[in-house]
Amino acid sequence: MLRNFNAMLQDAYTGGYAVGSFNVYNYETMKGAILAAKRMGQPIIVAFGAKYLSNMSLRDASSMASVLADEHGVDVCLHLDHCPDKAIVFQAIRAGFSSVMYDGSALPFDQNAANTAEVTAVAHAVGVSVEAELGSLAATETSHEGSVDDKEVYTSPDAAKEFVARSKCDALAVSVGTVHGLYKGTPNIRVDILKSINAALGIPLVLHGGSGIPEDQIRACIAEGIAKINVNTEISTYAVDKTRELLAAAKPPHLATVAEKQQGFVGDIVEKYMKFFMAR
Ligand code: 13P
Repeated sequence: MLRNFNAMLQDAYTGGYAVGSFNVYNYETMKGAILAAKRMGQPIIVAFGAKYLSNMSLRDASSMASVLADEHGVDVCLHLDHCPDKAIVFQAIRAGFSSVMYDGSALPFDQNAANTAEVTAVAHAVGVSVEAELGSLAATETSHEGSVDDKEVYTSPDAAKEFVARSKCDALAVSVGTVHGLYKGTPNIRVDILKSINAALGIPLVLHGGSGIPEDQIRACIAEGIAKINVNTEISTYAVDKTRELLAAAKPPHLATVAEKQQGFVGDIVEKYMKFFMAR
């Protein structure tokens, strides 16, 4: 059975660690991520974005996640990543997702808060949790989220307080200097802003743009209320590089071998980040 997002995040928030949210795109990536969580003895959020619906449907994702969680005895939460389309959010709820991210961050504040409140009312009625976003992350050219035209807008602690009161969301994604995609230099995360947001809200906070954040900065963010960290780009770049090496062999492998190896490539990245996110 899939595990409740709120319970998972509350444990992390009070326990001083973060749950890794890893983007998956098909069966191989989902199984690779869940097996890595099993090896690490950690809970995991597998995140599926609507932009990968041509790879698998919401119902595919839901049934695969439930079966893999049961078969391997792993605490798995299935999460809909960044979704500005309420219709798809409601479809995910119906398909059995544990949590959904309604992303109204591109909208004016009032509209974002009102739409999120509408999603929250429906989701909570059926035991599904809601992540919302306030502020805006920039994106680099390696990103699969957002676009390179996106501007960074830091989340305001006062606005965040008002937003959570109105929307009743369970967790809030904040913009404090991380970007979607790989960093060109060292990220400059505004832990001071994060600290003020955490003091104002007292609910689990979410850090997007996890690929490439150094461990010390991750630890500083967890200390200031980050309970969920999203990783997408590095899963793809690493697995594609390793697949390329595999295919360069003098005798190219069978497709079944490529698929199995790809589960391991995803697992390498999941394990790497889980070690950074665990309680000390
Ligand atoms: P990265 O692609 O930068 O790891 O960000 C992932 C993310 O925030 C998914 O929502």
